[in-house]
Amino acid sequence: MLDQLPLLPADPILGLAAAARADDNPNKVDLTVGIYMDEQGLCPVFDAVQRAQRQLVEEETTKAYMPASGDAAFNTGIQKLVFGEDSAPLLAGRISSIQTPGGCGALRIGAEVIAAAVPGAKVWVSDPTWPVHIPLLGSVGLKFENYRYYEPDSHGVNFDAMVDDLKQAQAGDVVLLHGCCHNPCGADLSLEQWGVVADMAENQGFLPFIDIAYQGLGDGLDADAAGLRLLAARLPEMIVAASSSKNLGLYRERTGATLFLCRDGNSAAALQSQAQVAARRVYSMPPAHGAIIAGKVLTDPALRASWEAELQGMCQRINALRSQIRHQLEAATDRDFGFIEREKGMFSFLGLSKEQAQKLRNEHSVYMLDSSRINVAGVNARNIDALAAAVGQVVKG
Ligand code: LMR
Repeated sequence: MLDQLPLLPADPILGLAAAARADDNPNKVDLTVGIYMDEQGLCPVFDAVQRAQRQLVEEETTKAYMPASGDAAFNTGIQKLVFGEDSAPLLAGRISSIQTPGGCGALRIGAEVIAAAVPGAKVWVSDPTWPVHIPLLGSVGLKFENYRYYEPDSHGVNFDAMVDDLKQAQAGDVVLLHGCCHNPCGADLSLEQWGVVADMAENQGFLPFIDIAYQGLGDGLDADAAGLRLLAARLPEMIVAASSSKNLGLYRERTGATLFLCRDGNSAAALQSQAQVAARRVYSMPPAHGAIIAGKVLTDPALRASWEAELQGMCQRINALRSQIRHQLEAATDRDFGFIEREKGMFSFLGLSKEQAQKLRNEHSVYMLDSSRINVAGVNARNIDALAAAVGQVVKG
């Protein structure tokens, strides 16, 4: 029976990361997976996370299952982190959440709850979007429609086209939005544009589903959530998938949350029960380690201050790198790369063809996705010259 199953192609992101790992060129440049790397090319553990982890090891008395909703401190912390300490719907008891295995688990649980409400609901996704959105949401039977978003010529958002397409979104439809630091293109909505999306959701009745995996790595923790919070202040309902992979560096611990903004407290409790039942049928209960650490970091004032300072440093480094990459690429080519500085977060499309991206890989050991998406945070003082030289050679043909 099982031998009928074919070998599947490698994942478009993780497969390239594996290819980069296997490349024995000592000067290879790996800009594939969205992982924050420091100047040494290492993915660091936050000091606050290390301290919280040591506390956990000292204090832990059991490995019994976690509650179905996950760690209580983590849920409180992530609700405030996403919606804001003084969020009116939070204070009104209109928000509930469930801890999930990473942002992917959060998306999947959100999708399960949507499918329970409207089986086969239509989800509007930006063109392009993170490729894993499709299998994560599609595996529960949700259907997809694209809305135009990124315009390669301007390297920005074609907001008029987005609005035109979303005019067709109706009550019972879901609109998937990237809360900040759009993956893969790095082009975000302005606050004014978020306001237009809020008007449309109010008038047309569609449900926003916000994937916020990079909060704190664009302009800062509050600024990155400003669009989401604007929607939350105006709309009766919304789902959010949050991740602690990037902003707390807990990638391998699989820590995230699905958050529900609801009409009232009763509905918030109902949605949490729906999410718990959905989780029970998919993976039963969430993993403990990362969420307990995140709960401590988010709610202990000293750990929190240390974490915020370190995160701010990462955010500033990414923005400084954006400027350096722009200037080095402009010097190596005759192209305008000014858009790299206008974008936010870890990603940018360099505007190269698939063939050029493959040539960079095969001839220069410079790894980016076929779409020419780079992980900006993978660039450092030691590899930036090699990146610019290789792109220069490939562009000049
Ligand atoms: C990425 O887009 O590189 C990250 O979100 C990691 C992943 O799981 O794809």
